[in-house]
Amino acid sequence: MPENGHQSAPPPRGRILVIDDEADIRESLETLLDLEGYSVQSAENAAEGLKRFESGIYDLVLLDLMMPDRSGLEVLDQIRTRDKHTPVFLITAFGSVEVAVEALKSGANDYFSKPWDNEKLIIEIDRQISSSRLEHENRELRRALKQRYAFPNIVGKSERMLRVLDLVAQVAPSKSNILITGETGTGKELIAKAIHANSPRAEQPFVGVNSGSLPPDLLESTLFGHVKGAFTGAVANRKGYFEIANHGTIFFDEIGNLTADMQVKLLRVLQEREFMPVGSTETVKVDVRLLAATNADLLKMVEEGRFRQDLYYRLNVINIPLPALRERKEDIPSLVDHFFQIYCQENDKFLNPQGRHMLQFEPEALHILMDYSWPGNVRELENAIERAVVLATDEIVPLSVLPEHILHSTGVRTRSSAGDALPPDASLFEIVAEYEAKVITDALESAGYSQTDAAARLRIPLSTLNQKIKRLGIQIRKRTEPRP
Ligand SMILES: Nc1ncnc2c1ncn2[C@@H]1O[C@H](COP(=O)(O)OP(=O)(O)OP(=O)(O)O)[C@@H](O)[C@H]1O
Ligand SMILES: [Mg+2]
Repeated sequence: MPENGHQSAPPPRGRILVIDDEADIRESLETLLDLEGYSVQSAENAAEGLKRFESGIYDLVLLDLMMPDRSGLEVLDQIRTRDKHTPVFLITAFGSVEVAVEALKSGANDYFSKPWDNEKLIIEIDRQISSSRLEHENRELRRALKQRYAFPNIVGKSERMLRVLDLVAQVAPSKSNILITGETGTGKELIAKAIHANSPRAEQPFVGVNSGSLPPDLLESTLFGHVKGAFTGAVANRKGYFEIANHGTIFFDEIGNLTADMQVKLLRVLQEREFMPVGSTETVKVDVRLLAATNADLLKMVEEGRFRQDLYYRLNVINIPLPALRERKEDIPSLVDHFFQIYCQENDKFLNPQGRHMLQFEPEALHILMDYSWPGNVRELENAIERAVVLATDEIVPLSVLPEHILHSTGVRTRSSAGDALPPDASLFEIVAEYEAKVITDALESAGYSQTDAAARLRIPLSTLNQKIKRLGIQIRKRTEPRP
């Protein structure tokens, strides 16, 4: 049929299926909905209604609760096993609270009793259809993003982790600076790498800097490079990390450990997009995306004058907060599986011919892993699993391969009470580790949780302190006033 001259009807406001055995109810609904611009189909019994539902696409179903061949709740049940999302309104002759509660529990979106108020019904239908369309769009968007972005080595299906991954997918393509925050071992570096890998800079370098591990002078020449003769030992020109990362991404780990002087220098590069190598008089221009991570409360540090506010705002254009492992415990079984696979491969143990691991924890062990508070988060779990794989002698992994402190935890104990809870048969290694953790925790407490000050008190390099904090799973609190 030629399209010219043929006026097509405007698209309907929504497609509605009416399932009701009473002819006059069907007719009055059809008339009302048609007048309001919906396209309506109706069925006079449950069987026909289900058949129509399966063969058509509807935005909403109006379903009678009492029909001779089947109850509305049964029909609702069958609709829900096929389709979780299409909204269903129940219509009933009896306006009782029990029926309403039952209907909503069974997955109906709303319920109306006869005789209903036409105006109210239309308002609710409209509201429901637009909100489910929005939900549908969100689901589709999420699916499309997931397909376009790949996070092959990130495990996490919890709502919290899905939100993180959605955010990563959203911000990866941009050039914005991003601040990744979270407790130690929550995966900040992993997320930084995922942002880079899913950005247009993926083919360019990703350069990581540990902001606190080098003395300030050395950090400056490491970041900005130096020219020959700039200082004793500078025998040739050397490129710094910013130049190496040109067109790529630079990742500042533990950004809270930058000295005041380095904060100024970093701010300058971010503002000017250029810098001067140590000892040089010429500026170098770079195009670098900056990602930063911290387990400290930077905003608090800003309030206390320890971190520059202007730098904070430059870094924190977008914040990605990572949940602690204890806030997403439902991810623990798949993380265990993930690390079993990695460490079985690494140790060439317990692999089937297809290369899949064959390990499984005994149920009690898994319960303990789920109950434990994981102060060292995913890294601590990873270490525990690595140890378990090494110690395991059988495919069913026993409780006894778990570290003592996890076995004896109540799920709330943290390192601050370390030393009080050692089992009588603890090994020398465990006693030393507990004692070391206690000394370090005390030093951190005395230093108001400034890692730099604590390292000075313990007379060890800051980098050594950092490693020990990670290895021992010591919880870093927010900074407080140091004890005299
Ligand atoms: N969601 C995850 N899926 C799989 N592995 C993870 C996940 N999160 C963290 N890991 C692993 O846990 C370990 C610690 O992660 P990462 O180094 O990224 O943590 P972090 O937050 O940077 O820690 P820190 O604050 O101590 O530097 C790494 O081996 C990382 O691969
Ligand atoms: Mg890290």
